[in-house]
Amino acid sequence: MTALRDDLEKLKGEGLFELQGLETSDDLEAFRHRWLGRRDGRLSAVLQSLPGLAPEERKEIGRLANELKALLETSLSEKTKTLDDARVSAELARSAVDLSLPGSPLPRGGLHPLTRVMEEITDAFLRLGFNLAEGPEIETDDNNFTALNHPPDHPARDAHDTFYLKDFKDEAGRPLLLRTHTSPVQIRHLRAHKPPLYIVAPGRVFRHENADATHSHVFHQVEGLAVDTDISLADLKGALGLFAETVFGRGVNVRFRPSYFPFVEPGAEVDISCTLCRGRGCRVCKQTGWVEMLGAGLVHPNVLRAVDLDPDKWSGYAFGIGVERVAMFKYGVDDLRLFLENDRRFLEQFS
Ligand code: PHE
Repeated sequence: MTALRDDLEKLKGEGLFELQGLETSDDLEAFRHRWLGRRDGRLSAVLQSLPGLAPEERKEIGRLANELKALLETSLSEKTKTLDDARVSAELARSAVDLSLPGSPLPRGGLHPLTRVMEEITDAFLRLGFNLAEGPEIETDDNNFTALNHPPDHPARDAHDTFYLKDFKDEAGRPLLLRTHTSPVQIRHLRAHKPPLYIVAPGRVFRHENADATHSHVFHQVEGLAVDTDISLADLKGALGLFAETVFGRGVNVRFRPSYFPFVEPGAEVDISCTLCRGRGCRVCKQTGWVEMLGAGLVHPNVLRAVDLDPDKWSGYAFGIGVERVAMFKYGVDDLRLFLENDRRFLEQFS
């Protein structure tokens, strides 16, 4: 009797001690099996010995054994709960968001450098009071050439390397074309509006030239046109001087070199003093101190006549700025193709 009771006391100590050391759900399962298993659990061994005992002893030991069984079961389920809780907390701690970490930045888009420069040029004139105008990229021969004083068979047409849309003809039966410059916007605007007028027309133009570091089939221009009474070269030079200072900075000079465009007279190629070497001479300005940026001149009387304006009453100036040239010069980029390849490592430097 006492021996059995001592055994039970020992079992109790052993069981509770073992329980404390359990760590995993496998451990818990193994423990349940080893201690509470119906057939060969350590407690069933005690219970199986009960029938051989004297009635009183059987009762007493039976009660103690059942108490121990109940104790082990409660302790086991408490232990299970403790382990579960610990596992959940560990899991939460592992997956928790660390609010003290820096966030990962969202990549930001930006305007293409050519778009920026084109807007900057356009804005410079809008600030002088010019209005924005636009024209289509597919043009008639008349708007692109004839009305701009390039009659059919005029040799200056050849200089434009035009893309023709052979299958599409205008009313006169001439093939439509991709505009070779933004100057046709002059004609469109003059046909639709009465002077005085001052417009800027940014846009894309097309020429069938060989592509290289300074030429591309597709490029951009910003056209300007002023028609009013008593317009002179001084007005043109003043407007271009202000444009140059806005886009390239104060102190920049503008120089006119006589040149020929059929739709202006006199015509000029306009240079900007090189800001990279301050006129001393460098690779970009080819040691001249000047960089060519645009064509300009006073509107030819034939252009005014083509749009039914009297050249004795009206006069005007026009200019066409090469956007790519301005961008290359402004950013010191010596290969135009960099602007067209859309390599983000290049483009991201401008945003
Ligand atoms: N349209 C001319 C060109 O593309 C530039 C220009 C515009 C020249 C206006 C004079 C006046 O080359």
